[in-house]
Amino acid sequence: MTVRQFTRVEVSKWTTREEAVFIIDNVVYNVTKFLDEHPGGHEVLVNVAGKDASEDFDDVGHSLDAKELMKKYVVGEVVEAERRHIQKRQISWEDSKVDSDSSFTSSWKFPVLLGIVVTLLYTYLFG
Ligand code: HEM
Repeated sequence: MTVRQFTRVEVSKWTTREEAVFIIDNVVYNVTKFLDEHPGGHEVLVNVAGKDASEDFDDVGHSLDAKELMKKYVVGEVVEAERRHIQKRQISWEDSKVDSDSSFTSSWKFPVLLGIVVTLLYTYLFG
């Protein structure tokens, strides 16, 4: 099954409570039926209708539940030529794990080793 393709100009036509469509991360959502159910209110959704709402959506820091729920409203995707690079400003757990492993001093091994050295030194000097 092919996914329906939309140009950004096409999406920009649906800006009302009667037809509210927007783009988040190159995916097109029709939220007309969701407006009154949105916990953040219908107004914010109508405000971004017709537009690319990726940043607004991210800024709120929506929950995983919200991200699961939005799948229900997918109607298609942005045509390939008009897709934007998806920027994720949130630092993922994966990233931070790589960071801490690459640096000896910021990993758990450094304080543990330091503790052992200090204990040995203490017993040697004062024991
Ligand atoms: C299909 C798309 C969307 C879905 C399914 C959705 C769903 C939700 C859900 C479930 C919540 C409750 C809090 C949470 O679970 O994170 C929420 C809150 C909220 N949403 Fe959305 N949302 C969507 C799009 C948007 C967009 C595009 C905006 C901004 C323009 C927005 C603005 C907000 C705001 C301001 C809140 C309230 C946050 C608070 O009270 O702390 N949402 N949304």
